[in-house]
Amino acid sequence: MEKIEIRVKNQEQTALLASKIAEKLEGNEIIFLQGQLGAGKTFLARSILKALGYEEEVVSPTFILQCEYRARVPVLHLDLYRLEYGEEIDDLGLEEYLDRYVWLVEWADRFPGQLPPPDLIISFFIEGEKERKIVMEGKSWVRSLKNNDFGD
Ligand SMILES: Nc1ncnc2c1ncn2[C@@H]1O[C@H](COP(=O)(O)OP(=O)(O)OP(=O)(O)O)[C@@H](O)[C@H]1O
Ligand SMILES: [Mg+2]
Repeated sequence: MEKIEIRVKNQEQTALLASKIAEKLEGNEIIFLQGQLGAGKTFLARSILKALGYEEEVVSPTFILQCEYRARVPVLHLDLYRLEYGEEIDDLGLEEYLDRYVWLVEWADRFPGQLPPPDLIISFFIEGEKERKIVMEGKSWVRSLKNNDFGD
C-alpha cells in the first residue's frame, strides 16, 4: 500500500489536490475521509465533485447521511457522524452502489467493519487555521500526487 503525506496551506491547495484525485477516479473506488470536525472532509468531497464536472450545490450529508451525484463518474457521498449504531448501515441499501460509484465516506472510521474495505483512506490533520496535513493511503496512484506542487 502506498502512503504519502501532503501539506496544504489553504483551501485552494486542497481544491488542487482534489482535482488531481478526481482525474484518477474510474467510478468504483471506496474512499474513507477521516479527521476531526472542520478538518476539511466535506470541502475535499465538494472539490472532487466540482472537478468531476458537478456544477450544482453539494450539501453536507451530516444530517441526511447519504447523497448521490451524477458527475463524470457517479458519486455516493456518505457521512456517518450522526449514525448511532453501525448496524444501521445495513439498512441504507448501499449494495447497489458497489462497483459503480465513487464512495466518499466521512467518519467511516466510526464503523469501518460495517463498510466495504477502502481502496483509499484520506486523513486530515489540522495544523493551522488554513494549514492541513493530508495523509493518503491505498491506491498506487497516490504516489504520483506527491510530485505536485501544493506548497512546501
Ligand atoms: N486547507 C484547507 N482545506 C480544507 N478546508 C479548509 C482549509 N483551510 C480552511 N478550511 C476550512 O475548514 C473548514 C472545513 O470544513 P468541512 O465542512 O470541510 O469539515 P469536515 O471535516 O467535513 O467536518 P465535519 O466532521 O463537521 O463534517 C471549511 O470552512 C474550510 O473552508
Ligand atoms: Mg463534513
